[in-house]
Amino acid sequence: MTADAFSALLRQHRSIRCFQDRGIDPALVDRVLVQALQGSSSSGNLNLVSVIKTSDAARKQHLCTLHFDQPMVLQAPLVLTFCADSHRTRQWLAQRDARLGFADFISWHVAGYDAIILAQTTALALESHGLGICYMGTTLHAMQAIADFLDCPDHCLPVTSMVVGWPAESPPSRDRLPGAAWIHNERYQRPTPADIDAHFGEREERGRERYLALGPEMAARWAEHGIRSLAQFYTSKIKYDPDQFARDSAALEDLLRARGFGG
Ligand SMILES: Cc1cc2nc3c(=O)[nH]c(=O)nc-3n(C[C@H](O)[C@H](O)[C@H](O)COP(=O)(O)O)c2cc1C
Repeated sequence: MTADAFSALLRQHRSIRCFQDRGIDPALVDRVLVQALQGSSSSGNLNLVSVIKTSDAARKQHLCTLHFDQPMVLQAPLVLTFCADSHRTRQWLAQRDARLGFADFISWHVAGYDAIILAQTTALALESHGLGICYMGTTLHAMQAIADFLDCPDHCLPVTSMVVGWPAESPPSRDRLPGAAWIHNERYQRPTPADIDAHFGEREERGRERYLALGPEMAARWAEHGIRSLAQFYTSKIKYDPDQFARDSAALEDLLRARGFGG
């Protein structure tokens, strides 16, 4: 693939939440996953990852409830759950009379990075075939329930999921922060208030309009919660509620300890 073709693939990215009623060839999915792992760096080349495919309608129905009823789980023919997994590697170590390892907080991160790197390579590879994907951050908030539903053993936990299917929508491209906001030369450059205004200004107005365009119900909820800006929306009770994040973080710490990843 040329640099231009790769650039075009990146430009075409949009999260897809609405899918055609058309399955995906399972052989294509497996091929893409195998190639994606080959094309992903992997810490120590340990491949501390597992991917669990869900395509059975009844199982997707249940998975949907675990993902806070996000309707795209029902619509998409396939859900991929990417797991940080040292279970298999530890079994290999035990079978070879090696000292057991990878059951600590560092290994949780090492395995998690492997899984996330694989997820994004998979996303690009799926998109190169014309498929659409959308990540589901709900995986982090319902990790234990999803792990149990997928029968994950100790030292194996889901870190992210994505729905996959043939797109039935073509949403506009969503902008990102400009390079000047996050690319630093040599040392971190702390943003001034003027930098914040310059980097967030336009996109926060566009974001506010996009959310309010979702319908009068959203406008009513903004009014009910006294939300006047996109920033206030993001950390309000109806988006990324910091109190909920604190509760879910405490649960995650407990889960990591219970499932063998220390903490
Ligand atoms: C880790 C992660 C979790 C996400 N979780 C969700 C989600 O739960 N539901 C959803 O609709 N979109 C989710 N997204 C998609 C983002 O909302 C989307 O990538 C972002 O708004 C930018 O839009 P774009 O991907 O179309 O460019 C997630 C994206 C990432 C990377």
